[in-house]
Amino acid sequence: MKRSKIAGIGYYVPENVVTNDDLSKVMETSDEWIQERTGIQQRRYGRKHEETTTTMGAQAARIACERAGISPEDIDFIVFATLSPDYYFPGCGVLLQRELGITKREAGALDIRNQCSGFIYALSIADQFVKTGMYKNVLVVGAEMHSMGLDFSTRGRNVTVIFGDGAGAAIIQPTDDSEQGILTTKLHSDGTYAEKLAFINPGAHGGYHANKAGETYDFGFPPKDTYGEIFITQKMMDDGQYYPNMEGQFVFKLAVQKFPEVIHEALKDAGLQASDISMLIPHQANLRISQFVQKQLGLSDDKVWNNIQRFGNTTAASVPIALCEAWEAGKIKKGDLVCLAAFGSGFTWGSALIRW
Ligand code: ACO
Repeated sequence: MKRSKIAGIGYYVPENVVTNDDLSKVMETSDEWIQERTGIQQRRYGRKHEETTTTMGAQAARIACERAGISPEDIDFIVFATLSPDYYFPGCGVLLQRELGITKREAGALDIRNQCSGFIYALSIADQFVKTGMYKNVLVVGAEMHSMGLDFSTRGRNVTVIFGDGAGAAIIQPTDDSEQGILTTKLHSDGTYAEKLAFINPGAHGGYHANKAGETYDFGFPPKDTYGEIFITQKMMDDGQYYPNMEGQFVFKLAVQKFPEVIHEALKDAGLQASDISMLIPHQANLRISQFVQKQLGLSDDKVWNNIQRFGNTTAASVPIALCEAWEAGKIKKGDLVCLAAFGSGFTWGSALIRW
């Protein structure tokens, strides 16, 4: 069986820089608090009503195609990872296909909803399609427009200060070089604590179905004159229940356990050790989490790429943005062992080992 490789990568972040001081003008927070707890100094926000998750994904995809030496028309399949899609449905995969102007070919498109580990899941799916010979050019995208769905009041400060907008993309192709390519991917999940880091409303879960007065009902349809409120009710709006929620310390404890675990699993599978890693690209969840993982693996500073300071946490986009930045900076060279790892909502987590 052939291996697959990353043939081209690209990323895009919006121009608009939002500093911690900017946020402290609209909510009770401070540069000191944010930097100390997360390492974040600034993040980017897209231009509202102009840029979307899809348009940012398309910008990154065009660069990835160019670097892979292909035209967007050559794409056989699209895998798009995001938690902040343009629409509830259809997904961003088909919107991206349209944005790239490649609908004529009618190539398949798949959306992945695995949050912070979305890109690694997407990469693993692309890897399977390419290895088996089904497709030759798979476009993998991770993109987020978080700034459209955050609570900018003090109520939402624990979540809002962490996230930023951006996109990353990669073209996955087969390779004949037995020394190169994706060596292994490892994917995991545990839904036990799904609500610990979640964006619950609007959704089709029963618990919050209510009429305008906030009264719940038992039937499969709402009382007369209340249609349209099945997914989101006035009460939810009033209570601010339509924003992401996170139990930060709970997430932190699991993240620092699962990151090293899934990296060691991949290394073992490939017959390698932590000391063989040339560059670790951790999902940019929180600088303190990445530092903890680095220490656990015994890696020096030049073997871990961190950019959360400048971009915040961009969820599905964070791994491809960091990978692309490290590559552009000349820190990833042919023959290097690159390790990608992520943990996030679900909980879902995963890793990938790539011989560049
Ligand atoms: N500015 C100022 N004060 C704040 C802010 C803020 N932005 N957010 C919360 N606080 C306050 C809280 O209200 C609380 O005040 P209180 O003591 O008066 O009640 C105090 O700060 C401490 O709050 P905690 O939530 O306990 O703060 P903690 O030290 O746990 O830090 C953080 C929060 C940074 C989220 C931390 O828990 C963490 O890093 N968790 C990991 C989760 C993570 O990284 N998530 C990223 C997204 S998920 C992912 O990508 C895996």
